[in-house]
Amino acid sequence: MPIYLDNAATSHPKPAGVLEAVTLALTEDNANPGRSGHAAALRAARRVLRTREAVAALLNAESPLNVAFAFNCTDALNLAIKGALRRGDHVIASQLEHNSVLRVVAALARRGRIELTLLPPRPDGFIDPDDVRAAIRPNTALVICTHASNVTGAIQPVAAIARVARAAGAQFLIDGAQALGGLPVDVQALGCDLYAFPGHKSLLGPQGTGGLYIRPGLALNPLREGGTGTDSDRLEQPAEPPERYEAGTVNLPGLAGLGAGVDFVAPRISQIMGHERELTSALTEGLRRIPGVTVYSPSEEAARAGIACFNVGDLSSGEAADRLAAQGIAVRGGLHCAPGAHRFLGTLQRGAVRASVGHANTLDEIDALLAAVRALAQSG
Ligand code: ALA
Repeated sequence: MPIYLDNAATSHPKPAGVLEAVTLALTEDNANPGRSGHAAALRAARRVLRTREAVAALLNAESPLNVAFAFNCTDALNLAIKGALRRGDHVIASQLEHNSVLRVVAALARRGRIELTLLPPRPDGFIDPDDVRAAIRPNTALVICTHASNVTGAIQPVAAIARVARAAGAQFLIDGAQALGGLPVDVQALGCDLYAFPGHKSLLGPQGTGGLYIRPGLALNPLREGGTGTDSDRLEQPAEPPERYEAGTVNLPGLAGLGAGVDFVAPRISQIMGHERELTSALTEGLRRIPGVTVYSPSEEAARAGIACFNVGDLSSGEAADRLAAQGIAVRGGLHCAPGAHRFLGTLQRGAVRASVGHANTLDEIDALLAAVRALAQSG
């Protein structure tokens, strides 16, 4: 494996406990959770419940029942957005959002189902809660903001935006794709109604996992109807969460692994955050010192998740990422599925190189990346 600095796309390596849990879920505990009543099925169900409890505790959710599992963060965002909205509603979304939000709201707007405002950030790359307030309309039903930009890592003022949304009687949805597991998250203190997260990034679980926090009392229209193993004599989808949102067999191996990932992260979240901040600071400061390199991530440590975004001279970001890959360093070039962020940065044509750190990266690896970028900047 190369020096892996692409943790914002998916985290690597996964803790040994994740691999063990996945294996157990596919061997000794391989049965359908929440359906049959034999011993393996009960063990499988307990595994899913344990993961739900662990995620709920990490989020400080009111109850594990307020966490619905999904196939990834995009799936969770689709449930939140399509499940919360009615025809004629107005939605405010930040321009920094990933296509997992932008394409969903744009499709609804194109079909004439909703009115849409896309809110640009201030010149410093942060959404201004006052701009959200100014965009509110009488029919504003949903405000959406990423917790941390997946392009620049800029941590957005989500608690302040939540207060604006709440005062306007709108729901507030946070995309936690680059935050949960890397930053402390308390959904009750944040005051959000919906918080979407992937399982395979900072929570260190397998791909194909994710979920949505849904605050108590908020009922969404489910994205999918189907079997839940409950109320099976009725043709209506159950009203109770989380079954309402989890039709069909859940991803047992994935959720078992996710539970082990959360078990690894939860007791050391401050340590992980401190480590990732140290690495990202060394990286952004080092990059800023290289002539010809442009850095787009915020300079203040506390305002930034573990992401450094940059370009080298006139190289396209794809070319730069390929040349780094050829030297055994894995980063991501391109638009990172977030065209609005690149429009804001002026990098819509060439994209940007994104290096994203994880719990297992070291300062030596950061030094290796800096040396490779220095050589790239000199060779042009
Ligand atoms: N959403 C992931 C990223 O930002 C895949 O790279």
